[in-house]
Amino acid sequence: MFQPNENYLKLPGSYLFSTVARKQREYAEAHPDKKIIKLSIGDVTQPLCPAIIKALHDAVDEMASADTFKGYAPDLGYEFLRNAIAENDYKARGCDIAADEIFVADGAKSDSANIQEIFTQNTKIAVCDPVYPVYVDSNVMAGRTGTYDKETETWSDVIYMPCLKENNFAPELPKETPDLIYLCFPNNPTGSTITKSQLQEWVDYANKVGAVIIYDAAYEAYISEADVPHSIYECEGARTCAIELHSFSKNAGFTGVRLSYVVIPKEIKRDGVMLHSLWARRHGTKYNGAPYIIQKAGEAVYSAEGKAQLKEQVAYYMKNAAYIKNGLKEAGYDCSGGVNAPYIWLRTPNNMTSWEFFDYLLDKANVLGTPGSGFGPSGEHYFRLTAFGSYESTVEAINRIKAL
Ligand SMILES: Cc1ncc(COP(=O)(O)O)c(C=O)c1O
Repeated sequence: MFQPNENYLKLPGSYLFSTVARKQREYAEAHPDKKIIKLSIGDVTQPLCPAIIKALHDAVDEMASADTFKGYAPDLGYEFLRNAIAENDYKARGCDIAADEIFVADGAKSDSANIQEIFTQNTKIAVCDPVYPVYVDSNVMAGRTGTYDKETETWSDVIYMPCLKENNFAPELPKETPDLIYLCFPNNPTGSTITKSQLQEWVDYANKVGAVIIYDAAYEAYISEADVPHSIYECEGARTCAIELHSFSKNAGFTGVRLSYVVIPKEIKRDGVMLHSLWARRHGTKYNGAPYIIQKAGEAVYSAEGKAQLKEQVAYYMKNAAYIKNGLKEAGYDCSGGVNAPYIWLRTPNNMTSWEFFDYLLDKANVLGTPGSGFGPSGEHYFRLTAFGSYESTVEAINRIKAL
């Protein structure tokens, strides 16, 4: 007799964005005359840039001829893409990462959810609070997080590192020693970052205690300040303790196209076992490669035209971020982020809970955002707005909020 995986039954409620979408649907059905502006989910709205579109078209044409047709992609990704990544994202920044330490895949959501598989069952994880929900949920599904306490909204076997205004939304080294530390900078949801010297402290700590850092750099393209690292490998010693995740979703608009990569340096070892080998084995067994067409589009991200066009695209979203942040400040909100990240993190007014403010904003301004409490208990009384809308809708949304 089959039995469902009981770990899935431990997951509290539905995925945050499904709840947001349901509430939006219900409100829209009840108020068909209202124009709702969505500044909630971190999905891009600008079209793929011309250099990427051309690469896609060219690759499609190659598929039409037997001479140039491509079937299964190499498990770990085509060399043309891995070389472009190694050259542009690492060598150009003085980071020592080889093309064969890069694993191409179809999204950082699945990479960040799957990476826990190469660690032993009793691995103790540490996460920022608030946090991108996938890191915790994937460990819940793996049966690694203990029991859930509804009161505190925490798992008994997870180390939470609160990121609050008091610590500039940057985690402090945990008192209890973790085996696996999830860090994401620039951060989703708070929009905060840490400096290179702060990140160096984490790398030194991980090497000292024998932990691995999963460094999610999905928002790296939005960094505007000089002392904020673009890669954890800018820090000394990261090759022995850090795995880095990258997505093409936010820097190049691939949310609907799907491309990502994971970096695992060969120096991360325990008793002679390289994590690199385990991930290669996993990839070989469970994954048949990102499509050729999409990997060609990924290569175009690193072309001269691609880089110039994407710089403009990022600047477009960051103009929105500045508009949101300035507008909220003018309206008296306490907010942060929006300088190195496309997210603005604001304190809810009048001590409203995050969901109360969600309902208030939806009802009074017809603006949809994301409740901070959905990202963890320390997100309570906070709210996230994204800069990924069109400029016009962003301006309208903020003007509506200012008029409340
Ligand atoms: C921190 C973080 N990591 C990963 C992802 C997922 O990226 P992808 O579209 O590559 O799956 C997101 C998406 O919002 C994110 O915020």
